[in-house]
Amino acid sequence: MPAADVVGGALVGWAVLVPLTVVLVDAAADEVEAGELVVEIGEDADEPRALPKARTRRKAATAMPATATVARTKGSADRRSALCLPTLTTCHAHPSRALNLVRIRAGHRLCRALRGRCRQAARGRAAYGGGMRVLVSGGAGYIGSHTVVHLLAAGHDVVVVDSFANANPAVMARLEALTGTDIPVHAFDLTDKDKTERLFASEPFDAVIHFAGLKAVGESVDRPLDYYENNLESTFSLLRGMRRHGCSTLVFSSSATVYGDQAPLPYQEDYEPLQATNPYGRTKVMIEHVLRDVAHIDPEMRIAVLRYFNPVGAHPSGTIGEDPQGIPNNLMPFIAQVAVGRRDRLSVFGDDYPTTDGTCERDYIHVEDLAAGHVAALNRIAMSDQPIRTWNLGTGQGTSVLEMVHAFERASGREVPYDVVARRTGDLPASWADPTRANSELGWRAEKSIDDMCVDTWRWQSQNPRGYEVPAVEPAVAAGQVDG
Ligand SMILES: NC(=O)c1ccc[n+]([C@@H]2O[C@H](COP(=O)([O-])OP(=O)(O)OC[C@H]3O[C@@H](n4cnc5c(N)ncnc54)[C@H](O)[C@@H]3O)[C@@H](O)[C@H]2O)c1
Repeated sequence: MPAADVVGGALVGWAVLVPLTVVLVDAAADEVEAGELVVEIGEDADEPRALPKARTRRKAATAMPATATVARTKGSADRRSALCLPTLTTCHAHPSRALNLVRIRAGHRLCRALRGRCRQAARGRAAYGGGMRVLVSGGAGYIGSHTVVHLLAAGHDVVVVDSFANANPAVMARLEALTGTDIPVHAFDLTDKDKTERLFASEPFDAVIHFAGLKAVGESVDRPLDYYENNLESTFSLLRGMRRHGCSTLVFSSSATVYGDQAPLPYQEDYEPLQATNPYGRTKVMIEHVLRDVAHIDPEMRIAVLRYFNPVGAHPSGTIGEDPQGIPNNLMPFIAQVAVGRRDRLSVFGDDYPTTDGTCERDYIHVEDLAAGHVAALNRIAMSDQPIRTWNLGTGQGTSVLEMVHAFERASGREVPYDVVARRTGDLPASWADPTRANSELGWRAEKSIDDMCVDTWRWQSQNPRGYEVPAVEPAVAAGQVDG
């Protein structure tokens, strides 16, 4: 075992309560920066003397790989930093992955307590592309289920919590078949603070992606209290659970609706004031403010606010997709249900807007691109120096209602009959994102075209004419339907 290499600072044994900032590096990677104090630990190393609990020492001794090297930057003394290392090992989602794969960025504060979890571990794993243990709220829903697939593919562990208020439990079996992974599910309503607290108390999470919420604009006008209660209370429960149990990375599902009806096109993240024209949208505006306030008082929080534009499409397998209950509120599922014969005709609300063909233009984004955006944002925010950052997830292109209808006809080989009816109150002529910030900071870009969106939606709809309600149609039969 190589000797401890003192590059700078003062070594007082590893119980040195020195640094507030710590860098864990791969011993072989030679990543220690000048001015850091390197302390070797491992099977043969002295046990940390400063640790107050025997239990913690034991875990540290068994879980740390022999070759791990701990590099500590100079900094003010802080007892917590010394306590952090064993904590890191205990909260590592993949004990088999060596501690030396964890790199904690210099400049971050470390564990705040001996709770068996380290807020920095998630950032460390993200820095090395390692898997985080991610709680996905609303993971059985449309966007959540697609994101679960991408998270697993990216090497993260996923736990779903969903009340199934707007999801069919059948989606979980489809997800497991698609990913070949057992996905733990907690079925309860996140507005229940006690259950949420018990969840965080019983399992460690590195991060939360918070999709759970009610989302129908029209329904929110009729049931504002339900929307405010559900969307806000579920967020409060999660934030409290996270803060109590040392989970500091959050990705939140916001919406382009927070730009209101005054923002100039294309919508940019810095636009203020946020406003919305309906209770659903106001829940998103309020939650964004809540998240900023929480990030302000808790500098360890790392929050990604993602403003989605118009998610459509489905997984290319055709086994998961959007399955609206009742009459669809959004254009794409309505078109798909007309094409598959569940509904007679589409109503196009107005064709006299100042747009290319007079119908409203929106920025449609494939749900697969959106899901990939979550993984990119999760990895980015976990390593960020900023407590909160907002990104638009859109393509930057507007597509009109009639353009979408015609693209769907091409994809499905079926006619989509429609009637032009009066404008709908509150509809804006056009909206689309400026996705530049997400493109440059997340290294993410929406790749899929409108035709891709229609083809994938049609595959899902034709294989599952009634959504998750009944067993999926065999692809061969579905293909016959497409041809027919
Ligand atoms: N689909 C869109 O067009 C769109 C656009 C912008 C933003 N968003 C936001 O993205 C998120 C996901 O949207 P989606 O389209 O996947 O919706 P969805 O309804 O398909 O998924 C939401 C999931 O959350 C669950 N849920 C709701 N309230 C809950 C609670 N209190 N506790 C636990 N689970 C709860 C539902 O059962 C559902 O499975 C939502 O927050 C939505 O507001 C969606």
